[in-house]
Amino acid sequence: MKTNRPFLTLAAAGGLTALMTSPAGAFLLYSSGPINDRASNPPSYANCTSCHTTNPVNSGDGGVAISGVPAEYTPGATYPITVMLQDPNQRRWGFEIAVFGPNDNNIGTTTITNANLTQKSTVGGRSWIKHTTAGTFAGTVNGPVSWSFDWTAPAAPGGIAFFYVSGNAANNNGFNTGDFIYNSSTAAAPAGAAHADSTLILQPDSISFRRGRSVTVRARVRNHTSSAQSYDLVSRVRLPGGSFFPPAGSLLPPIGLSLAAEGFTQASMTHMIPSGAPLITATYEAFIQDAGGNPVDMDNFTFSVTP
Ligand code: HEC
Repeated sequence: MKTNRPFLTLAAAGGLTALMTSPAGAFLLYSSGPINDRASNPPSYANCTSCHTTNPVNSGDGGVAISGVPAEYTPGATYPITVMLQDPNQRRWGFEIAVFGPNDNNIGTTTITNANLTQKSTVGGRSWIKHTTAGTFAGTVNGPVSWSFDWTAPAAPGGIAFFYVSGNAANNNGFNTGDFIYNSSTAAAPAGAAHADSTLILQPDSISFRRGRSVTVRARVRNHTSSAQSYDLVSRVRLPGGSFFPPAGSLLPPIGLSLAAEGFTQASMTHMIPSGAPLITATYEAFIQDAGGNPVDMDNFTFSVTP
């Protein structure tokens, strides 16, 4: 059960007016489609909480899921992908998804299949698919609601395709307050090309690690093989000079993960940032390793410690 939902305060309403008013003074309706680069995708990992700030990301009792992503993709094949979002008692909905390759640019092609509920926007080589106004399903209580689109895999086997989504389970008050934001991610590997048995996907709640606060990094793992797998998940920080923190071992005790054939699992790593932590920019690295301690896959992101 969610409790203590904050009310819209006058201060928040003042900030909101500034946000919602375009230079011409007309209302800019964000609910007709969120701005780009808020799908919790790298390198910024920014998501809907950059404006829907009432609740920390992934803090409610709902969730978002991506389905239709194959464990291994066939080059050139088209896959219908569905984003499903649910949250008890919420009553308006939105999402944004990115399908990026290892270089944080598009891999393959996304195609709109329902222009009433979804739209696509592209800047350079990067695209995002998101809801339309009709696609917010205003007044639909609890969910689940879903949006679908097609993803066509690259014609020649490319790299791993990463799917990153951020969903907003909103309260239908017409403001950016009182809403619950959820992130998720998954991955598909190219069939017929060498790839690791499983892909580790890191998704920090934020890449700004504030002194004296805790930060949560979600680790999601996709098994690309048709046999069960088990791994240990470990992480460490690579400091600007190239040395590691901690100097040996990992930030947390290893976390054991078990995956069914072609399955998916996730774990959270929460770290307290000491109030005296140096204000550096560094790299967070995590690994999944097999029983022999051999690394199977690694993912990383750049973060900054902030005051
Ligand atoms: C730049 C700020 C900003 C970002 C980023 C943003 N929103 Fe919003 N959003 C707003 C504002 C302001 C409103 C209220 C006015 C309106 O309806 O557009 C709003 C309203 C909404 C509503 C209707 C809420 C309700 O209770 O009626 C939905 C749904 C929504 N946004 C979805 C999203 C999703 C999904 C994302 C992330 C992918 C997102 N927004 C990111 C500013 C933002």
